[in-house]
Amino acid sequence: MAAAAKVSSIFRKSLFKGKVAIVTGGGTGIGKAITEELLHLGCKVMIASRNMERLQKAAEEMRSTIVPNKPSNLAHMQCNIRKEDNVKELISTTLNKFGKVDYLVNNGGGQFPSPASNISVKGWNAVIDTNLTGTFIMCREVYNQWMEQNGGVIVNIIADMWKGFPTMSHTGAARAGVDNLTKTLAIEWAADGVRVNSVAPGSSIYSETAAANYGDNKIFEHMIDVLPVKRLGTPEEISSCVCYLLSPAASLISGETVKVDGAHSLYNTKWEIKDHKKLPAFTWKNYKPESEDDDEPKSKL
Ligand code: ADE
Repeated sequence: MAAAAKVSSIFRKSLFKGKVAIVTGGGTGIGKAITEELLHLGCKVMIASRNMERLQKAAEEMRSTIVPNKPSNLAHMQCNIRKEDNVKELISTTLNKFGKVDYLVNNGGGQFPSPASNISVKGWNAVIDTNLTGTFIMCREVYNQWMEQNGGVIVNIIADMWKGFPTMSHTGAARAGVDNLTKTLAIEWAADGVRVNSVAPGSSIYSETAAANYGDNKIFEHMIDVLPVKRLGTPEEISSCVCYLLSPAASLISGETVKVDGAHSLYNTKWEIKDHKKLPAFTWKNYKPESEDDDEPKSKL
């Protein structure tokens, strides 16, 4: 039997003993780190993803490394969160297997880089369906099948879209939608004992999955200059925030989005705008009548 891998967690080992979580996208990157920490803290976890092969491999690995003595604490199931039937089945299967669902972590999502002008409606809809509608369906179903009667905690993983999201307009719009959905559900479901929060990882969170999506590590290396903390972030630094929000330590926190980005979203952007004179010009004329700026190009508007 393989030795248990060292999952380092600030929380006490039995924090989530007797609890059950669903983590979408729980087999890769940030979702995998969350799954590992939850398992380490005694939680039973159902991980779900569209890609069954990758999910199964990750589940087998985590069973042997994180919970070798309790491999049945981790279940996995194929689920396309865009499809209502799949989601309904995911929740009911989890209830049949583990008897309850205390926590839902909506981490599954996907997008592709493209200037907005090149995104087809099909591509746009695919990203909105996955990241916004998929998250909505997951929340609605877990509430209808379990949390309305029994309470629970939901954490949505969104993204750093606070200054817009150039080259990722679809996912920026979807994640901003989830930020707002988080607030609405926190209010609608408060009286049922359901808390709903989001975590917004910075784009500096490094994982092999993220690097593979971008195609190379250089994007991450070049980013370091514009990060206030002058280093990349780790999936484990997202996971600890998710575990905190799920835990009773956050019992008064609902409707909140926590940025975990080392102040990146407050500071700088790599997005460069080339020099241009395409907008109405500013002229000092109205302020300093003697100004030589009277020659400024006139607005086209
Ligand atoms: N990860 C990326 N897209 C997904 C989807 N549609 N369903 C579940 N997990 C996903």
